[in-house]
Amino acid sequence: MKINHAELEAVAVRPAQYPAPDLPEIAFAGRSNVGKSSLLNLLTGRKSLARVSGSPGKTRTINFYRIEDAFRIVDLPGYGYAKVSRSESEKWGKMMESYLEKRPCLLKVIQLVDIRHKPTAQDVQMYEYLKYYDLDGIVVVTKADKVSANERQKNIKLIRETLGMSKEDILLPISSLKRTGQEALLDVMEELVEQYRTSLAQEEE
Ligand code: GTP
Ligand code: MG
Repeated sequence: MKINHAELEAVAVRPAQYPAPDLPEIAFAGRSNVGKSSLLNLLTGRKSLARVSGSPGKTRTINFYRIEDAFRIVDLPGYGYAKVSRSESEKWGKMMESYLEKRPCLLKVIQLVDIRHKPTAQDVQMYEYLKYYDLDGIVVVTKADKVSANERQKNIKLIRETLGMSKEDILLPISSLKRTGQEALLDVMEELVEQYRTSLAQEEE
């Protein structure tokens, strides 16, 4: 799949600000600065559709991007940003909960982790949470350009083990800088949307 058309459709902190649940959604979750917004730009081939920054905590809202009028990619605000106050981190929790637990058209949450580090306690907690809601199964390992081929395999193994991924769970290394790995992710996303369409069609029969 190649994405030819993408646009920012809504920026939300409250459910009332979400777009109508009329399209399937695939969300990106992960630590602040892990590369969620960069990945969105890579997939859509648009350099600055989503704002990217060297300073963490850039995306603080839930941003809905409409893709080809077929589905949405939802860029979730990052976690684990040290300089966030307690009340801000509570706000983050409420924002995530209302989206992840009550969005009927949410198909999957792709979790992003940095290839250089062992997943943090918060990463593990997030993956557990996704498992609980049956939204887990796809992990994107970002910044693949930052390590050698040797380290890459070693780190991927550690990431799989630390997150408690099963053999069937998909892990895809990607570099937004070098623009590598995105085709495999786009294929996985296309497959998810297709499955959703098929299940809708069957319900209507
Ligand atoms: P928040 O919005 O704060 O949650 O961050 P984010 O997850 O959206 O991260 P963002 O895409 O803004 O990227 C953070 C930083 O990492 C930026 O400086 C990016 O240029 C850099 N970055 C993202 N992806 C890659 C990558 O694949 N390789 C390298 N080397 N740097 C990357
Ligand atoms: Mg961001």
